[in-house]
Amino acid sequence: MRILGIETSCDETSAAVVEDGTYVLSCSIASSMRDFKFMGGVIPEEAARRQLETIMPTIERALVEAKVTLHEVDVIAVTSGPGLLGSLLVGTMTARTLALLNGKPLIPVHHILGHLSSTWLGHTDTPTFPILTLSVSGGHSDLWLRESHTKGTLLGTTLDDAAGEAFDKGAEMLGLPYPGGPALAKLAEKGDENMFEFPTPLEKQASMNFSFSGLKTSLKYLLRDKGGRETLSHSELASMAASYQRSIVRHLTSRMEKAIDLHPEVKEIHIVGGVSANVRLRSEGEKITKEHSLMLRLPSTLRYCTDNAAMIAGAAYFLLREDPSITKNPWKTEAQKAL
Ligand code: KG4
Ligand code: ZN
Repeated sequence: MRILGIETSCDETSAAVVEDGTYVLSCSIASSMRDFKFMGGVIPEEAARRQLETIMPTIERALVEAKVTLHEVDVIAVTSGPGLLGSLLVGTMTARTLALLNGKPLIPVHHILGHLSSTWLGHTDTPTFPILTLSVSGGHSDLWLRESHTKGTLLGTTLDDAAGEAFDKGAEMLGLPYPGGPALAKLAEKGDENMFEFPTPLEKQASMNFSFSGLKTSLKYLLRDKGGRETLSHSELASMAASYQRSIVRHLTSRMEKAIDLHPEVKEIHIVGGVSANVRLRSEGEKITKEHSLMLRLPSTLRYCTDNAAMIAGAAYFLLREDPSITKNPWKTEAQKAL
């Protein structure tokens, strides 16, 4: 089953051809991130305008790299949401038109289901369910207990900011460029993560939810009490970044550990989404899974952590495999919820 995936939920325009949910023939990503870096964040109208210009060349490139024509594609899959409205419209309208003109079935895919499917890209071994997945990006932070590729239960979610947002906003306070996550992680490499103490979010709550607003506020007040970031040395800023990162990672992994304790039936642990590119989170994830004799799976390359169309094509394959009737009325049966 060869699927052309299209993803335009935020600032990126991506197209990919994936076979059987795992074998990536091509994955083309055009990002306007470099330009938005100078603007301090994504401007939705500008992102959609650029996506309108890049979508067809990006699809062409994905097909050429995969050495297939549109006729040789079995299904077209597209991110239907959540995301920036204008950006999503560019992707869904293009996908609808291509599907109609070429007589191909169209499968709308929930963006988070895409992230959840990203761990299979480039892997051919069989998964062992149930799987506990921590899905952390700039738009969401979720903990899922999955009984199959497309079915499961949401164990916890964020009450305020997403983990990626906490990285991005913290980075902004520290004077780092957008997107803040990778920049903050890089600065943190040179710092002492034990130098500053941040509060542990939702410490006394039994739930597996996340909250990052308290951490963010603590960083703000710490900077203020120290006289502002301009007065700090590079090494102090690096230690602040490292301590802040440690607190985010600790919060994420403490929820994972709680879920592992409550669900001893879990066989594999997955971490997906943009924040899964974080080295500190990866090493902490490895430590925890080893302690519990579980298997940790991460997206096989960093480009599958952040937004990409291969994960959308992969998710569509599993949606179709678990419910072949999905193509009959895809927009109605569309996974409006992730699982
Ligand atoms: O999944 P993604 O590409 O887009 C959304 O669906 O939101 O995630 C982007 C987020 C951004 O907040 C970015 O700062 C964060 O992932 N991110 C990181 C790292 N790389 C990307 N956060 C921490 N450390 C990283 N290395
Ligand atoms: Zn995403």
